[in-house]
Amino acid sequence: MIGLKVHKSEAEAVRRKLLSMRALSRRFKSLRVGDYVVFPLEREVKGLGEIIHASFQERKRTPPEIEGKFDIIGDIALISRAENEQEIAKELMKRKNIRVVAIRAGHREGEFRKMKIRLLAGENRLETIHRENKCVFKVNIGECFFDPRLSYERREVAKEVKENERVLDMFAGVGPFSIVIGKLSSPREIISVEKNQVAFSYLKHNIKLNKLDEKITPILGDSRDVVPVLPGKFHRIIMNLPERSKEFLPIAEEKLADGGVIYLYSIGESPEDVLNDIHMRVLGVRRVKSYSPKRYIFRVKLTR
Ligand SMILES: C[S@@+](CC[C@H](N)C(=O)[O-])C[C@H]1O[C@@H](n2cnc3c(N)ncnc32)[C@H](O)[C@@H]1O
Repeated sequence: MIGLKVHKSEAEAVRRKLLSMRALSRRFKSLRVGDYVVFPLEREVKGLGEIIHASFQERKRTPPEIEGKFDIIGDIALISRAENEQEIAKELMKRKNIRVVAIRAGHREGEFRKMKIRLLAGENRLETIHRENKCVFKVNIGECFFDPRLSYERREVAKEVKENERVLDMFAGVGPFSIVIGKLSSPREIISVEKNQVAFSYLKHNIKLNKLDEKITPILGDSRDVVPVLPGKFHRIIMNLPERSKEFLPIAEEKLADGGVIYLYSIGESPEDVLNDIHMRVLGVRRVKSYSPKRYIFRVKLTR
């Protein structure tokens, strides 16, 4: 079978490109060979890397009725509302990496963006250890916000952070942006602010777990009070509170170093919709994920 060999540093971008071209075979697993990844191909593609012949292992098929309907956070499978929830739970519990199956029992609510979750099968807990981007996160998915689908986004932001920069994560949660940046890049320091006491405890724990105590300073509090009194300016400011981030933009702008970049996550139907009331210079807009049937979360990069 033919495969596409690319360096691991380009693998995620190439995987997305292949998916969009419908050229990636979903039936087989990709291979890791040293610093390279080999993707199984449906057909030959040009200009993305070296085409080679290889044998690939077949994937265990996800039954079509549950395909795309769940997230995996550590060893917890989290499904969305479904009529056949018990059947799906039973199917998911067959996987050796799943110990708990739970279902979203409502939307994210309140300023801490917590979600009501109901256990369906397996062990009686919502705490787990999740791995991504060479980092480890302990998280309770009923008490704190955590979205495994932002893994690519976090890596993309981390790649932009340059050596010796100062980073401010204004709505840090259990620390995924701060920690991925701390692990994959070389900033001078990262300040991570979080208001939810429970998420803050996990944030502190995760900083230790990832051995980033010397790089990341966690602060418990409301960014509205904390950020204005922080000393100095920041080269990168992360604002992942999509429902309300714009309210905090003037505070962030005050703390932005010359040439610095704000990564503002915000909700809208289109880029124009999101940019409508923003008065800073826009460096780029990326649609990150769906939020509701007609609305999306966008990442807007801003500078002065
Ligand atoms: C959408 S979550 C994002 C968390 C984290 N950045 C991530 O990507 O997983 C927003 C976080 O901001 C926290 N938060 C909400 N209002 C805040 C405020 N005024 N100051 C600091 N943190 C706040 C919430 O508790 C929540 O953990």
